[in-house]
Amino acid sequence: MYKAKVITVSDRCFNNERVDEAGPIVKKILINAGYEAEKITIVPDEEKLIIDALNGAVNSNFDLIVTTGGTGFSKRDITPECTKKVIDKEAPGIAEYMRQSSMQITKRAMLSRGVCGLKNNSLIINLPGSEKAARENLEAIIETIEHGLKMLNNSVNDCAKLI
Ligand code: MTE
Repeated sequence: MYKAKVITVSDRCFNNERVDEAGPIVKKILINAGYEAEKITIVPDEEKLIIDALNGAVNSNFDLIVTTGGTGFSKRDITPECTKKVIDKEAPGIAEYMRQSSMQITKRAMLSRGVCGLKNNSLIINLPGSEKAARENLEAIIETIEHGLKMLNNSVNDCAKLI
C-alpha cells in the first residue's frame, strides 16, 4: 500500500477563515484508490513553510505528496515555485494531462500553474485549491500515477516488466 501525504496550501485555511474542503476530498479520493493517507497538513502561502512541509514529507518517505492550492495568479500563489525548489526531476506529463483534461471542463484550467516532479522516493503533485478543481485534476491522473510509483520505488527501469 502506498503512503500519501496531503498538504493544503492556503492562508485562509491556515488562519481558520475558511474550512479546508479540498484537502479532505483529495484524501478521500486517495483512500478510495487504495492509498494510506492520514493527517492533512495545512500551511499558509509562505515559501519557507511550504518547502519545509514538502521536504518533511519527502524525508518521511511518503510515496505520493499531493498539494492543493496556491497554483493560480494571485500574488501569494507560490506553490509551484516552492515545489520546483524541492524536486530533482520534473514530471511535466502529469501536469500537462491534468490541464488538458481539465480544459475540457473549464478553460480556466489553463490558469493553474501546478507542477509535478520527483524527489528521492516521492512523487509530488500540485493541484489547484478549490474542492472542485482539486477533485477533477486528481481524478484525471489517479489511475496512471500508480504505474509511475512502481517505477520510482521498485527501481525497475523496464516499464514493460511492470504489471
Ligand atoms: N481545473 C479544473 N479541473 N476545474 C476547475 O474548476 N479552476 C481553475 C484552475 N484549474 C479549475 C481548474 C482556476 S479558476 C484557477 S484560478 C486555477 O485552477 C488555480 O487555482 P488555485 O489558485 O486555487 O491553485
